[in-house]
Amino acid sequence: SGSVPFHGAHQAGIVTPAQDRLHFAAFDMVSGSGREELIALLRDWTSAAERLVRGQEVGTGIEPSNALLPPDDTGEATGLGAGHLTLTFGLGRRLFTGREGASDPDDPFGLRSRLPRAFEPLPSFAFDLLDATQSGGDLCVQACADDPQIAVHAIRNLARIAVGRAHLSWSQLGFGRTASTSRRQDTPRNLFGFKDGTANVMAEDTASLEQHIWAGAEAPEWMRGGSYLVARKIQMTIESWDRASLDEQERIIGRTKREGGPLSGGAEFDQPDFEAAVPAGDTEEPMIDVAAHVRLAHPDHNGGARMLRRGYNYVDGSNGLGQLGAGLFFISFQRDPETFVRVQRSLKPDLLNEYIRHIGSGLWAIPAGVQPGGFIAQALFE
Ligand code: HEM
Repeated sequence: SGSVPFHGAHQAGIVTPAQDRLHFAAFDMVSGSGREELIALLRDWTSAAERLVRGQEVGTGIEPSNALLPPDDTGEATGLGAGHLTLTFGLGRRLFTGREGASDPDDPFGLRSRLPRAFEPLPSFAFDLLDATQSGGDLCVQACADDPQIAVHAIRNLARIAVGRAHLSWSQLGFGRTASTSRRQDTPRNLFGFKDGTANVMAEDTASLEQHIWAGAEAPEWMRGGSYLVARKIQMTIESWDRASLDEQERIIGRTKREGGPLSGGAEFDQPDFEAAVPAGDTEEPMIDVAAHVRLAHPDHNGGARMLRRGYNYVDGSNGLGQLGAGLFFISFQRDPETFVRVQRSLKPDLLNEYIRHIGSGLWAIPAGVQPGGFIAQALFE
């Protein structure tokens, strides 16, 4: 199947029509490694990524230059093609600020003065139950592809290339996209069975992308054309949800389950009318509940803030009580992390909160795209 170009003004994997499979990985720099190791790693990852997204084997492939050495490429994606693989690379805040609580002025990568003003850590939110072993990381790689084996192969080989400089600290598989990022795509469904991604910022909305997704003149030069990636691992209490009535489920989301139309009436892509009300005794009841997810997440409720959502469904097996370890691996891209903070704070009274828990979190700066001959985040080191 087809390949997605690696080079460009923006990194691939953001407005690229969302592929069906995800392997998301977070890496930590090995302590003692510094600026040179980081640059070398980003260069090596760039060369590998250029080959991987074309469906080519890493390095010399399955046959090493010397048969007594392990092959450069692990081999399991050989013959599978490119599968629309995209690799999107991000930088964690700790690369700029050093380790929290370090006694001496800790700036192992010489990046302290390059920290963008907008790159503030995410605050904690109501109902957060974050697991440190599935949160954060000095670097992230979002691998998306049509075939899970292609995405897993890419992360595995990038991890192998990183050995001695950075290690894989956690990773997440996702099996079904929960967003459309192009008008050419049908809206997929999340594990609550609702269409997800209807009101997303799409690749075709170039004015909205400039306004809400790509960092602009406010950002340091190396970030212009980049974005910020927020990842939230959101566990869903599937079994309770499945016992909620259809009315209740639709009230919580604010849209119909089959069609995805707003409860104020109309089809999937019609605008919700948050003022619409039905008479209820002496009063009126809003057709879209005051605490429905779409009302609280809507730009009208958030000073016009918009984000590009690009999340995936996940199932990590089940527990001994017959409950699925399942949910939404939420990913959003925004020009300023403050957009996510604002919307997530608005969601505090969200009716959905009874059925979800945020259990993992991360925020990374996604530098602008790579030019031929250059490497990931090159401008940051100049
Ligand atoms: C819209 C589900 C978490 C932000 C929607 C829609 C659904 C949905 C079904 C309506 C269709 C659409 O426009 O995509 C969920 C579920 C979640 C979740 C099941 C958790 C498991 C979040 C989080 C955020 C968020 C954490 C951001 C902080 C939005 C936004 C919209 C939306 C911005 C579009 C609102 C609009 O403009 O109409 N979500 N969502 N969602 N959601 Fe979520």
